[in-house]
Amino acid sequence: MALMRIGRKVKDLGITGPFTRWYDKNTREKRIGEMREYANEVKKHLTNNAAVLEVAPGPGYFSIELAKMGSYNITGMDISADFVAICQANAKRENVAVDFLQGNVSKMPFEDNKFNFIFCSAAFKNFKEPVTAMREMYRVLKSDGIALIVDMNHDVSKETLNEAAAKYSNGGFERWFMKTTFKGLCKGAYSKAELENIIKQTPFNKNEIKESGIGFYIYLYK
Ligand SMILES: C[S@@+](CC[C@H](N)C(=O)[O-])C[C@H]1O[C@@H](n2cnc3c(N)ncnc32)[C@H](O)[C@@H]1O
Repeated sequence: MALMRIGRKVKDLGITGPFTRWYDKNTREKRIGEMREYANEVKKHLTNNAAVLEVAPGPGYFSIELAKMGSYNITGMDISADFVAICQANAKRENVAVDFLQGNVSKMPFEDNKFNFIFCSAAFKNFKEPVTAMREMYRVLKSDGIALIVDMNHDVSKETLNEAAAKYSNGGFERWFMKTTFKGLCKGAYSKAELENIIKQTPFNKNEIKESGIGFYIYLYK
């Protein structure tokens, strides 16, 4: 069993300390294109002034890229005070307005029916209480709101892992390192059947789970 599967049973695995600065740099360099792709996907579902919540933004690049694309009211909430500070500095540097604050997805500091859209990437597998997290997403969404969770697939194939490692590296040791990292992360993530079982325990009665690379796009409709 992967460490993450054990770890998240004990406590919420917020990321703090010097690793947040490493993650910030790495995300900016390696995943900014992906963040733009996510923002373009989310944008399709938004109208002007839509209220958008990013759960667990890490360094905040999805919210920052989305803010550059239109007139939206964007909030980003992460359990890590270190990441919230990094998000605020990154938004200031990019000259965009996003309200970044600290909070736990299991008990979000928002009233009911507040957001049109919720986005959450590479974090759902880290949450200690996935059912509670999804129920909270349902609670804070407006009645016709949508949540999109992007996370890895526990049952990813070897071929797909190889493709992803090639995409995110320049070959050699780096390629091996990326493959090992992705493999470990996928081991700690949920399978499609596990996700369906989690969704069943929430009020979301319409959903769509699409495979994409080493992960899933999980759409939840309120
Ligand atoms: C692997 S990072 C992903 C960051 C970003 N979404 C991305 O795609 O790069 C996981 C994030 O989840 C946050 N996190 C973990 N547990 C959380 C919780 N219970 N509530 C809110 N944020 C949480 C961590 O602090 C971290 O920023």
